[in-house]
Amino acid sequence: MNPIWTRSLIAIVLLGLLCFVAGALAGVTAALVLAVVVLLAQSLSGTFHKQRLWRLLDAPAYGEVPSASGVWGEIYYRLYKLAKRWHGQVRQIEQQHARFIQAIQASPNGVVLLDQHDRIEWCNAISQTHFGLDAQRDLHQHITHLVRQPTFVRYLNAHQYDGTLVMSGMGEARYNVLSVQVFPYGERRKLVLSQDITELERTDAMRRDFVANVSHELKTPLTVLSGFLETMRELPLGEAERQRYLELMAQQAARMQHIVSDLLVLAKLEGDSRPPGEHIVDMRAVLRHLRDDAENLSGGRHRLTFASDLGLSVAGVESEILSALGNLVTNAIRYTPDGGTIHVVWHDVMGCAVFAVSDSGLGIPAADMSRLTERFYRVDRSRSRDTGGTGLGLAIVKHVLQRHDARLEIKSEEGRGSTFSVQFPVSRTVWCEASSED
Ligand SMILES: Nc1ncnc2c1ncn2[C@@H]1O[C@H](COP(=O)(O)OP(=O)(O)OP(=O)(O)O)[C@@H](O)[C@H]1O
Ligand SMILES: [Mg+2]
Repeated sequence: MNPIWTRSLIAIVLLGLLCFVAGALAGVTAALVLAVVVLLAQSLSGTFHKQRLWRLLDAPAYGEVPSASGVWGEIYYRLYKLAKRWHGQVRQIEQQHARFIQAIQASPNGVVLLDQHDRIEWCNAISQTHFGLDAQRDLHQHITHLVRQPTFVRYLNAHQYDGTLVMSGMGEARYNVLSVQVFPYGERRKLVLSQDITELERTDAMRRDFVANVSHELKTPLTVLSGFLETMRELPLGEAERQRYLELMAQQAARMQHIVSDLLVLAKLEGDSRPPGEHIVDMRAVLRHLRDDAENLSGGRHRLTFASDLGLSVAGVESEILSALGNLVTNAIRYTPDGGTIHVVWHDVMGCAVFAVSDSGLGIPAADMSRLTERFYRVDRSRSRDTGGTGLGLAIVKHVLQRHDARLEIKSEEGRGSTFSVQFPVSRTVWCEASSED
């Protein structure tokens, strides 16, 4: 039987016995008075505990257990145990919820939760940057009132969420490109996932540009070459003319060879992720080579000066260093009109080996500076092509320097000249026994 029933029955039996004994000893009136007093006391105690329980249920305070004896004590204790269990469960759910929110916050993707009416229920920090939202201010706002781009509004309203939507010009970084996809869930609720694909788009565009550039660069000499071939096949030419055509054809073939070999160098540098070994470069030989090449290329048209600290060297790959520094010297000669000066320095600056080439040449417009190391990028295409340039030299320089942990610094003023300096880190700078020369 239920313990409450059992206790109530025992209390009634006990009261009956007590009244019976009182009736036998002091008469019926005394027995009745006793019964009324006990029942009244019981009823008052019941009312007191009922209102206590009422107050407790009205404003539950976890951990507070009213003290009472008998059945009421048992009821309070059971209530306390129930509250304790619920409290534990709630805490567990709260912790799970907090961990879940932390995980979504840590995601590199933007997450926005929408209710049945496309109003924002929750959004993570990344989505705030992506869409320019404010998690507090924009709560319960219709998303299309905040993300107003017509493509997004159309996408959201079309209810066809198989594909992704690519958007740009959104949020704090307005030039970023986002890939957005909506995933319906629950009762007509939606999850909006956004991913920053700026870098992906950029590399894709670079790849497309690269293919277009290679084709374009090869197409020009190929067209010229096939034009000459056609002429030689169709027209009866004299020996002198034939020689001239052959010479021009050889020039175009050499140009194509130059492009292809530069591309192969680049591909090799890019494919080789290993840092160059600790071999000490013979900088004296490199500098001698650079000087000879510079004098040959200039042919006395420029004033060349070389100042080098022959005790200074670097750890790396000699052929790569020679090709990178050689391009800087070649550029200085190519892009400096006759009569200009070119000054080459190899010295140490605060423990770092520095190679610098200064020229009094054409200089580079400020707008072109950031793009110089892009493949095929030339400031003045026609002039560069006239001098045999393919626009791959500085891209090779960039890769070689990256592999040697070195930095390229370019200072230039249009019409006044440029200085290209390469700074090797202390970790790659090596001192050998030698003296300075000028
Ligand atoms: N010293 C310089 N003075 C002025 N412009 C320069 C100088 N060095 C480079 N440039 C500009 O930067 C562009 C890119 O140089 P880069 O060395 O990459 O290619 P290139 O010299 O045209 O061809 P390549 O080196 O592949 O034969 C050049 O076309 C030129 O416009
Ligand atoms: Mg060059």
